[in-house]
Amino acid sequence: MHPTVNIATRAARKAGDIILRYHNQIDLLTIENKAINDFVSEVDQAAESAIIDEIKKSFPNHSITGEESGEIVGDEDFRWIIDPLDGTTNYLHGFPQYAVSIALYEKNVASHAVVYDPFKEELFTASKGGGAFLNDQRIRVTDTHGLEDTLIGTGFPFKSPQHLDAYLDMFKAIHPKVSGIRRAGSAALDLAYLAAGRLDGFWEIGLNIWDIAAGSLLVKEAGGFIGDFSGREKFLDTGNVVAGNQSVYKELLKTIHPHLTTQLQR
Ligand code: IPD
Ligand code: CA
Ligand code: CA
Repeated sequence: MHPTVNIATRAARKAGDIILRYHNQIDLLTIENKAINDFVSEVDQAAESAIIDEIKKSFPNHSITGEESGEIVGDEDFRWIIDPLDGTTNYLHGFPQYAVSIALYEKNVASHAVVYDPFKEELFTASKGGGAFLNDQRIRVTDTHGLEDTLIGTGFPFKSPQHLDAYLDMFKAIHPKVSGIRRAGSAALDLAYLAAGRLDGFWEIGLNIWDIAAGSLLVKEAGGFIGDFSGREKFLDTGNVVAGNQSVYKELLKTIHPHLTTQLQR
């Protein structure tokens, strides 16, 4: 494992310990509403602080973008992007599908990624050019062709209801072509599962950079493809994401295309 991934893993495990410490005592947490359907608890905040402390021990000058604490300005060439708890709604309901997501971008290119599911003790890691791993075992995307017999992950645009109609049109177009569609509630884990061959494809509207910064490198390093709704690299900016093995990625793009509103084409 690359030394930087080791540091990110240590940080993710510390956050995971905090997350698990409280997962049976959710009633004791203070839950705030950041925006419509967007919750945060002190676990998210404590987990993020633990990650930042760990990163700063080794890299005091790097920039950090954290979902809960915002921007820590530092060397612009090295930017960590952190989601301390992806799947907060699941967590707050005791639905065990959530993860810590940590990525390092060097000169705006993803170089290292860790997605850690503390409940299932599954650690997904990748370094640019070095492949993707689940608990040290190499993982790869599936090799299915076309959409038939595929299992597709997605997320509902519950934070951006203006896209619900377009989303439902995409859903109606994809649904009859595939074996199943899953909305598991953690985009970081959805992408990690795609990398591990548990899903064949994925699409979602309006994600944040911290939801996908790590998962996107896992997908690429597992041999998968990821882009925005026009198949471009801009998905980190728009948050509109399509991913899959090469064939499923192409087919999903084709199926989604007729349902893009002008806003979603940007
Ligand atoms: C959310 C999860 C979810 C996705 C949402 C994200 P959070 O992250 O990734 O799957 O549908 O759009 O905001 O808020 O639990 O960190
Ligand atoms: Ca998230
Ligand atoms: Ca989060």
